[in-house]
Amino acid sequence: MTENLKIDKSLSDEEIYKQILPQIESLINPDEPLVSNLSNVTALLKDAFGKISWVGFYLFNRDKLFLGPFQGKVACSVIDLCRGVCGTSASKKETIIVDDVHKFQGHIACDSGSNSEIVIPIIKGNDILGVLDLDSYNYSAFNEVDKFYLERICKLLANKFSFKSILL
Ligand code: SME
Repeated sequence: MTENLKIDKSLSDEEIYKQILPQIESLINPDEPLVSNLSNVTALLKDAFGKISWVGFYLFNRDKLFLGPFQGKVACSVIDLCRGVCGTSASKKETIIVDDVHKFQGHIACDSGSNSEIVIPIIKGNDILGVLDLDSYNYSAFNEVDKFYLERICKLLANKFSFKSILL
């Protein structure tokens, strides 16, 4: 499957998102386990954008966020709701863009090299299912273009999967 992905990395971020969105739509398969699908989404995003140092999912269960499929360095495995950028995004149910993580009070530094971050909540109805978290070694790596397309990817995942059975 991977060899069929087509990503022209010389294009702008917006053009890259336009290329990968239909590929993500055809890559994800609701008949296969959620863990397999989320793993491939992280691999595709990490492959598509050189600016990403870490990309992964945290999945909501019992008032906490638990580390899910990711690409990058070892990360903290549990985040309390309201803690860090991830917990804040999950509790507010809104996307948070952080241009400089060192200025975000409560930021959880899993990789000391990370300088900026975006976290997108995955929401179904009124329920929080998890978050998609992307880090970069660049400052101000993420903007409204990332927010727009990553929210579309998270909506797609929320529509296709229940997110109930991945955490035991
Ligand atoms: N920085 C995140 C924690 C997760 S790591 O970036 C992978 C936060 O503050 O919630």
